[in-house]
Amino acid sequence: MKISIIVAKANNNAIGKNNQLIWKLSSDLKLFKKITSGHYIIMGRKTYESVGKPLPNRTSIVITRNPEFQLPDGHIVCHSLQEAIQLCIGKHLNQVFIIGGAEIYKQGLELSDELLVTEVNASPEADVFFPPIDPSKWKKVSSESYRKDDKNEFDFDFVTYKRIKK
Ligand SMILES: NC(=O)c1ccc[n+]([C@@H]2O[C@H](COP(=O)([O-])OP(=O)(O)OC[C@H]3O[C@@H](n4cnc5c(N)ncnc54)[C@H](OP(=O)(O)O)[C@@H]3O)[C@@H](O)[C@H]2O)c1
Repeated sequence: MKISIIVAKANNNAIGKNNQLIWKLSSDLKLFKKITSGHYIIMGRKTYESVGKPLPNRTSIVITRNPEFQLPDGHIVCHSLQEAIQLCIGKHLNQVFIIGGAEIYKQGLELSDELLVTEVNASPEADVFFPPIDPSKWKKVSSESYRKDDKNEFDFDFVTYKRIKK
């Protein structure tokens, strides 16, 4: 099973502030929707609360330490990232996406095969950050540029990194 992280991060690795995203990038949201639709997506409880409900056409797995936490039918609560990944392996999935936030990215980076990174050309104030991408561990395999316009606040590149096999 391929494990992919999908993230939008700024030049300073910023990913969010006050439990919200920090930019309006309509084209990036469309990419996110296209790539993750039909799949299982794993997220931390704070990211889930930030969105407020399960994203349509995807199965949400939400990670929390709260034993009482509940989700709408069809979605799954797990109590660690490892438990979430084991559950996906048990379902014989080909692919799963880790969609954030910072705490879950930090734990997921070592477990992932691929990083799908929207590299936003900005350095906004933030209170959560993506970990540095170590070039000795990750190889950039593709990159596509998008220009800012009335629906996209900043220029960004959509970059795919693959784990370098040792
Ligand atoms: N730019 C992007 O691509 C992107 C993507 C996603 C999110 N974000 C941003 O990231 C921010 C949220 O990130 P965050 O780091 O604050 O929170 P988070 O990673 O979304 O969620 C953290 C929560 O996950 C649970 N958790 C984490 N590790 C766990 C473990 N090992 N076992 C059990 N539960 C665990 C805990 O939930 P409990 O407290 O319930 O126990 C913890 O409080 C927001 O600003 C959001 O907008 C940005």
